[in-house]
Amino acid sequence: MSVELEFVMIKPDGVKRGLIGEIISRIERKGLKIKALKMIKMSKEMAEELYAEHKGKPFFNDLVEYVTSGPVVVMIVEGPKAVQVVRKMIGATDGAEAEPGSIRGDFALSKARNIVHATDSPEKVEKEASIFFKLDELVDYDYLHAIY
Ligand code: TYD
Ligand code: MG
Repeated sequence: MSVELEFVMIKPDGVKRGLIGEIISRIERKGLKIKALKMIKMSKEMAEELYAEHKGKPFFNDLVEYVTSGPVVVMIVEGPKAVQVVRKMIGATDGAEAEPGSIRGDFALSKARNIVHATDSPEKVEKEASIFFKLDELVDYDYLHAIY
């Protein structure tokens, strides 16, 4: 079974609400393998790069201010169809619309403050992950959960 990488970020509201463990736990319970993980405070430049596709939209400045307002937890996870799997696990952008059972569905009611980010297509994972990680920060190891 071929696997792919996915970039995931717990946003400052997720960190401040004490949801780091909850979110990482869901990722582990699903069976995704964490290949890189750290907490950082990102710069305005990093935020603008991460959200470059939204530049010029009415929510862009607020978004950049929000994701730079406190620490974020960034990670690279691996598994079969990891992008699709994680996007389903985080739920719709607007917490008020996200399905119960998804991270946003269970913990958010807002579109602008929705706890978590995950890359939306496999082609964009390397670009987003490389804003935060160097190649040598990816760690490989035997993962007992990795029965695909
Ligand atoms: P988007 O890429 O559309 O959503 P997702 O995070 O599900 O991939 O938007 C990026 C972030 O921008 C979103 O998580 C929160 C913010 N945002 C707003 O504040 N207002 C909006 O109307 C939209 C669409 C997004
Ligand atoms: Mg997006």
